[in-house]
Amino acid sequence: MRPKIYITQRIPLPPIDLVSESCDVIFHEGKEAPSQEELLNNIADKDGTICLVRDKINREVIDRAINLKVISTMSAGFEHIDVAYATEKGIYVCYAPDGLIDATADLTFSLLLAAARRIAESDRLIRERKWKISWSPLFMIGKPVWGATLGIIGLGKIGKAVARRAHGFNMRVLYYDPLRLSSGEERELGVIFCHLEDLLKESDFVSIHVPVTDKTRHFMNEKRLKLMKPSAILINASRGATVDEAALIKALKEKWIAGAALDVYEKEPVDDDNPLLELDNVVLVPHIGSATIESRTKMAEMAVLNLLSVLNGERPPRLLNPDVIAIRPLSKVKMLTNDTI
Ligand code: DGY
Repeated sequence: MRPKIYITQRIPLPPIDLVSESCDVIFHEGKEAPSQEELLNNIADKDGTICLVRDKINREVIDRAINLKVISTMSAGFEHIDVAYATEKGIYVCYAPDGLIDATADLTFSLLLAAARRIAESDRLIRERKWKISWSPLFMIGKPVWGATLGIIGLGKIGKAVARRAHGFNMRVLYYDPLRLSSGEERELGVIFCHLEDLLKESDFVSIHVPVTDKTRHFMNEKRLKLMKPSAILINASRGATVDEAALIKALKEKWIAGAALDVYEKEPVDDDNPLLELDNVVLVPHIGSATIESRTKMAEMAVLNLLSVLNGERPPRLLNPDVIAIRPLSKVKMLTNDTI
C-alpha cells in the first residue's frame, strides 16, 4: 500500500514532485495556512506530513493522526511542533536546517546595512514626495558599518555565516554563546568570545541567532536592551519571541537604542495596529530570511528526503527526536518497498 501524505501547501518546487512518485499525496490548496479543522481532518488517516513553520502540530493534531509515522517540517525552526509528544507517540520528527544558512545570513546583513544607512526610511521619503532639498550636509545621516563592532548572540551555523560576512566590512566581531568555540576555531573565524553584558555594552550592532526555547523566550528583554549603547542597532532574523517586542518598542520610542531591523515578530503577520509600524527607526521585513529559490529548494529537498527516508525504514538525515527509534524502530515504520519507490 502506498503511504498517504498530507502536504500543508502545494509547494511549487521540483523536489516536492518526488513525493507523488511513491506516495498518495493530498495538498492544502491556497497560500494561507490550513485551518485547524482542515489540518485535523486531513492528517487523520495519513502516514506522513510535510508541514511549514506556520502550521501548529500540537497534541490535538498528533492525537488525531493515528497512523502518522513522520512529521517533516520544511523549516529550520520546529517550535510549531510538539516534539516531545510526537516522540511519545512514536512519530519521527525531522527538520531542514541547512539550506537556509547563507540566505539568512545575507538577509541579516541586508538588515544591518539598511538600518545603519537608513535605506528603508530614505526610500519612503522619496516615495512620499518629501525629498525637497537636493543635498544637505546632515541629511539622512546614518552609522558607519566599516570597522564597527558587531555582537553576535548565538554562534551556530547562521551566526558563523554572519561573522564571515562581517569581516568583509572590517568589523570587530564579538560573540556570546553558551558553547564557547576552541581558540583555534575562534582565530579561524576571527571572533572574540564575550560575556553577554560586555557584548551588549560594546557592540554597535547586536544580532541575535538563537532558536526559541523556554530559555531564550524574551532573551532580549528590557534589562538587556538597556545595556546596549544608545547609538546601537538590534537585528533579529531568528524568531520574534527571542525579543520582548513590547520592551523593544519602548526602547525605540524612548531612544534607549538607536534602531532595530526585524525579519520576525511575536505575532506573524503583524497586526495593522502594531506600534512598530509607526516608528521610523526600525526596518521591517516580512519573515523572508530564507526567501531565495536556491534556499527554499534545498529546504524542500531535505523535507522530502527526511520523509521518504523514514517511510523507507532508514534513519532520516535530519532527525530531531532520535529517542523515537527506541519507541518505534525504523523497521516498524517502513512502508516503501522497491515496487513503490
Ligand atoms: C525556518 O525555516 O525556520 C525559517 O524561519 C523559515 O524560513
